[in-house]
Amino acid sequence: MEIIIQPTEADSVDIAARIIARLLREKPNAVLGLATGSTPLRLYRALIAMNLDWSQVTSFNLDEYVGLDPNSPMSYHSFMWANLFDHINIRKDKVNIPDGTAKDIPAFCAEYEEKIKSAGGIDLQVLGIGTEGHIGFNEPTSSLGSRTRIKTLTPQTRRDNARFFDGEDKVPTHVITMGIGTIMEARENLLLAFGANKAHAIAQAVEGPISSINPASILQMHPQAKVCVDAEAASQLTRSEYYKWVYANKPAWQRL
Ligand code: PGA
Repeated sequence: MEIIIQPTEADSVDIAARIIARLLREKPNAVLGLATGSTPLRLYRALIAMNLDWSQVTSFNLDEYVGLDPNSPMSYHSFMWANLFDHINIRKDKVNIPDGTAKDIPAFCAEYEEKIKSAGGIDLQVLGIGTEGHIGFNEPTSSLGSRTRIKTLTPQTRRDNARFFDGEDKVPTHVITMGIGTIMEARENLLLAFGANKAHAIAQAVEGPISSINPASILQMHPQAKVCVDAEAASQLTRSEYYKWVYANKPAWQRL
């Protein structure tokens, strides 16, 4: 894992945006895995401002609420179009987001996995982290080998996401999410976390044991995982000085 600690969210986002911009320049037909929630919002704004060419890019989103119509303002379909896709030249037929209204959810999930495979696999997956360590909506105790499937949200996640809805009881109970095994097959993972409310989950993910209790901790097994955090999200890490030193001393050829 490469832990990149920056003073502020804006500094972290600058690095994450440059990582993605470099990928799109080197591989114009890249396959990107994308995330929703508050965390990637600034990143998407930065990417829009960079005016990159997305015409050959394929995207796969991590997750979606079960039962929400794609046109619902709370759906992750709406989120992605409003916050990114409507502002870049990505082709609609290259955008993939789980369908929370699928009649046959297991069949839909198997098809989603197949689509990822036939697109050549995900080059870079953007991830946020839940306050209990979820990636995608793989809640604590999710199988570390799981594939795209239906999951039940924890009460904590429903509380955390109530701000996007008209109260906690309106937050759907179920979601479709890429599995941890799916995420681990991305060639590169880029986990972003900002703010003190993510500090515990980040400390467990980076310095705790690998455990399904903190699903993000599986990224310790990934050969290309970067964790981009601001000072607050890094505040419970015990080896911050070391991570900063490593980043400051990267060989020139490894720099962005
Ligand atoms: P947030 O959610 O970006 O809204 O904090 C992160 C997550 O649940 O993965």
